[in-house]
Amino acid sequence: MWGGRFAEGPAAVMREINASIPFDKRMWRQDIAGSKAHVAMLDAQGIIAPEDATTIGAGLDAVAEDYARDGVPDDLALEDIHMLTEARLTEKVGAVAGRLHTARSRNDQVATDFRLWVRDAIDQADAALGALQDALIARADEHAASVMPGFTHLQSAQPVTLGHHLMAYHDMLARDRGRLADNRERMNRSPLGSAALAGTGFAIDRDATARALGFAGPTTNSLDAVSDRDFALDHLAAATQCALHLSRLAEEFVLWASQPFGFVSLSDQWSTGSSIMPQKRNPDAAELVRGHSGRIMGCMTALMVTMKGLPLAYSKDMQDDKPPVFEAHDLLGISIAAMTGMVESVTFRTDRMRAAAEAGFATATDLADWLVREAGVPFREAHHITGEAVKAAEQAGVALAELPLAALKRIDARIDERVYGVLTVDASVASRTSFGGTAPMRVREAIAAARAARKGETT
Ligand code: ARG
Repeated sequence: MWGGRFAEGPAAVMREINASIPFDKRMWRQDIAGSKAHVAMLDAQGIIAPEDATTIGAGLDAVAEDYARDGVPDDLALEDIHMLTEARLTEKVGAVAGRLHTARSRNDQVATDFRLWVRDAIDQADAALGALQDALIARADEHAASVMPGFTHLQSAQPVTLGHHLMAYHDMLARDRGRLADNRERMNRSPLGSAALAGTGFAIDRDATARALGFAGPTTNSLDAVSDRDFALDHLAAATQCALHLSRLAEEFVLWASQPFGFVSLSDQWSTGSSIMPQKRNPDAAELVRGHSGRIMGCMTALMVTMKGLPLAYSKDMQDDKPPVFEAHDLLGISIAAMTGMVESVTFRTDRMRAAAEAGFATATDLADWLVREAGVPFREAHHITGEAVKAAEQAGVALAELPLAALKRIDARIDERVYGVLTVDASVASRTSFGGTAPMRVREAIAAARAARKGETT
């Protein structure tokens, strides 16, 4: 395609290092769509003859049919998906195919294709995250009042409800989806028509191609447009943040599935056995979600470092933009799908969770709060009194709620029998009614709001 001034062909290794077809063939649908929009615009602007435009348009459809049926071959000599498609088009329609590249360069072509691809990737990730949110909402609803220990420092801190815990992840995913949407909005501008770097002298209509490809409008600076990969970096950053959230949930599943915790049993479908220890039931999928987050972050780092210090405008380094974006997309997609499957099918062992919540003196704060509220004790003093009660319960080997009133009164005479109303784990969670708190009524409100938001998205 560019051999006019060359006497010799490239060395075999040159050909290999130069080729992007082994990976950029994933963009073939976007490449065909971009070319069809371009040729229709050339026609409408009178830049090419209508009959040529019709021939090229039909030829592009025929090439697309071949790709869909047979796949896209790794033809290294043709370098990339753009040149392969033009070569295939030439086979189909002859020399007229050469008119397609009028007023266009592979630089604006690849920038356009890649934006279209990333835009689809955003939509796919968003839909998958919505499904994971639905799974979390459904399980949270079942367990709006199931008590478990809430942790800080991984130490039993205060009782919470499992529903509240699951909805925490729902909220993280809502932010992830917000980041995807922010990028989608910002990146939805068409580079097509920026040509190699400086624009073109042909009387093209960039608004028309932008509209045809579903962009909100054209980009405003041709140099920036052909060398901007912010949209890919923003997507990788959003994917990384999301993967970090998935990895935290995965880690909880790993911990909870371990024997000392025993908070969950993973379904057969989502665990694996050991080839040597028959009793094992390993949370491999959760571990791999945790592991994949590291690789996704690596993809983001790879592209950031690739882009660092590149002068305007296009440099071939930018061809390396696609593998990390494709890899992150695949890893994120399977991670979200696996997490969704695990959330949907896991059995929560609420008896074990409750026992753990009761074992850790997790209602100590409730006793302190009671002293403040009912006996007018300053919080710091109440904290000290409660510490002594915890010590007494620990020595007696009982829960706080099992300490006899006489023992409590020995610690502080202002304590009376009403205190037992706050010392159970159920009373504790029920009392946390502040907005965003763990009280079952608040959790149910949060679930209703989340459901309404999801409904609003889909109608
Ligand atoms: N395969 C190239 C890429 O993915 C297409 C753009 C090539 N442009 C050029 N001037 N060599 O970046």
